[in-house]
Amino acid sequence: MERLEINLALIGIGPGGQNFLTQEAISKIQESDLILIPKKGGEKAELASVRTKLCETFYEKQIVEFDLPTRNSSDHYISDVNKWHDDIAEVWVNTLIEHAANGSKVSFLIWGDPSLYDSSIRIVNRINSERISIQYEIVAGITSLQALTAAHKIVLNELAEPVLITTGRNLREQGWPENVNVVAIMLDGANSFSSLMDDRVHIWWGAYVGMQNEYLIDGPLKEVKEEIITTRTKLRKQNGWIMDIYLMKRVGAKA
Ligand SMILES: C[S@@+](CC[C@H](N)C(=O)[O-])C[C@H]1O[C@@H](n2cnc3c(N)ncnc32)[C@H](O)[C@@H]1O
Repeated sequence: MERLEINLALIGIGPGGQNFLTQEAISKIQESDLILIPKKGGEKAELASVRTKLCETFYEKQIVEFDLPTRNSSDHYISDVNKWHDDIAEVWVNTLIEHAANGSKVSFLIWGDPSLYDSSIRIVNRINSERISIQYEIVAGITSLQALTAAHKIVLNELAEPVLITTGRNLREQGWPENVNVVAIMLDGANSFSSLMDDRVHIWWGAYVGMQNEYLIDGPLKEVKEEIITTRTKLRKQNGWIMDIYLMKRVGAKA
């Protein structure tokens, strides 16, 4: 059997709004022969439809939606995720073989930027199949963190200080390290900020940042934490899904 040759682009599309698509992303989307969009499994159906709508206005060729496998949830988070990435790599290969022509340009639309809390690059690097040969390129996108700092009109780092970018799970399980005064938290479904007791903490929070229904709250954590918790619940109920991100600083502290 002849080996299928594919030119793949992992295109960062920004955090959801049309205005955050770069000119390069639009050009790469238009050059694509085929766009693959995951719809079920690890991805919410709503995010698939946001991606589809984003490119529908300037792309007329083929869009194929495909189902992602679901991730096992045992006590071994990292091995579950590794196994899941193997499964996704296999689905990508099968989907490409089914829908892509030899020598064609195929794109995946990656939320935000492919380098930040996204495993598409890891997944492409796992593909090692005799059936397919892949050359790939990355198109940088605006991250949700950049969209958050722009929306709140703030600088990410304090003068000459480091920033920790981590997940809600890590904040809960490992706490906030003493030697970093600025933390950005992504992927937090559990209000992980709520147990922090330090009175110096200021929070800049945003849901659907960069999208039409963007919602922002900021203030001293102890004063706004209840408002953020109730707003998250209300917005999730109202829209059926939520994506939020926040930055916290220990105001006045030096690392
Ligand atoms: C799997 S990560 C993907 C991050 C993405 N690669 C980026 O560059 O922003 C998903 C997390 O990004 C954050 N996120 C992505 N888009 C967002 C948005 N429009 N508003 C708020 N948070 C967002 C949330 O913390 C969400 O849980």
